[in-house]
Amino acid sequence: MSGRDLKEEMVVTPWRVSGEVDYGKLIEQFGTQPITEELLKRLKKHAGYLHIQLKRQIFFSHRDLDWWLDMYEAEKPVGLYTGRGPSGPVHLGHLLPWFFTKYLQDAFNAHLYFQMTDDEKFLIHDNLTLEDTTGYMYENTLDLIACGLDAEKTHVISDVNHISHLYRLSLQVGKLVTYSTIKAIFGLSDSDNIGIIFFPAIQATPCFIQSVREKRNVAVLIPAAIDQDPYWRMTRDIAEKLGFYKPAQMHAKFLPGLGRRGKMSASMPETAIFTVDPPEVAAKKIMTAYTGGRPTVREQKEHGGDPSICTVYAYCYYLFEEDDKKLTELERECRAGTIICGDCKARLAEKVKRFLIEFQEKREKARDIVDQFFIK
Ligand code: TRP
Repeated sequence: MSGRDLKEEMVVTPWRVSGEVDYGKLIEQFGTQPITEELLKRLKKHAGYLHIQLKRQIFFSHRDLDWWLDMYEAEKPVGLYTGRGPSGPVHLGHLLPWFFTKYLQDAFNAHLYFQMTDDEKFLIHDNLTLEDTTGYMYENTLDLIACGLDAEKTHVISDVNHISHLYRLSLQVGKLVTYSTIKAIFGLSDSDNIGIIFFPAIQATPCFIQSVREKRNVAVLIPAAIDQDPYWRMTRDIAEKLGFYKPAQMHAKFLPGLGRRGKMSASMPETAIFTVDPPEVAAKKIMTAYTGGRPTVREQKEHGGDPSICTVYAYCYYLFEEDDKKLTELERECRAGTIICGDCKARLAEKVKRFLIEFQEKREKARDIVDQFFIK
């Protein structure tokens, strides 16, 4: 019995992700490379350990990561860039790549430029005002800081508030990209507002900002979910024309939502765990999550469950069970029917509660230091 029947067509673009995502197919469609064992070894050597998101293949694809590591090994300047579209509160799915970015920042002692696209989210959401998106920008920055990034080496750019840091460079980018390219890459149509047409130039710009500020060419790596890839395809086309390196990328999978299918999404709050959820509320969401269990306990004990379709198992896999042995044991118990969903959910709910209590403490403390993180 599979819960994931009724297949919807896969759509992955910066402004929409739906259907069952086939990551192997995305590598083909987007023309990226899988992250090989050899690359994992090199990352491990520099970081001292393999991050859970590497060993579980959550970061699964890349462009030019080998080159970026070559540059680092040759002691050339390297940097990091990632970002967030502040359209609401942050959920666990957003945190995944930020935790990973912190790992890279520590491993490579690199400066991180972090773009908050409070302009983009205002332009594409009919129901959001600039007050809303800049408000979320501020609140989401607290989440970023709570991930443990280094204040000395992290530069948060609110497009709306800090555009003067980007604009000169954005104009240079914009002049090299035609409307027909943007229309084709992003699927824009004549009825879209004109604000969004220029926006891709704004998102490309932080790829080069370190080079300009440091007055030397910096090799930049972008760790991010794979839906952002179209921006980087565009950016890579024009980078060398401006005298910069093409940005390298590492692409992550999406954290599934707690519902029957699809990625965690802020538009389905009952299936997403927000960092600002009261821990009890989050625990309740886990207790009603979609699992790979059987309709009755008797059937479960007899036939076992199916972790491959279970969101509770997915949360352990992505985030909450770092110990490989314990994860394998959980999978075995589930398939054997010796653990039932209620107990499994309760265990996860407990971990999520503890995580949130700790995270929320850090998040509140971040209010005192948030100004140190904005670009100067
Ligand atoms: N467009 C992204 C979003 O909607 C935000 C973003 C800007 C971003 N620059 C980035 C994401 C770089 C990843 C990497 O979420």
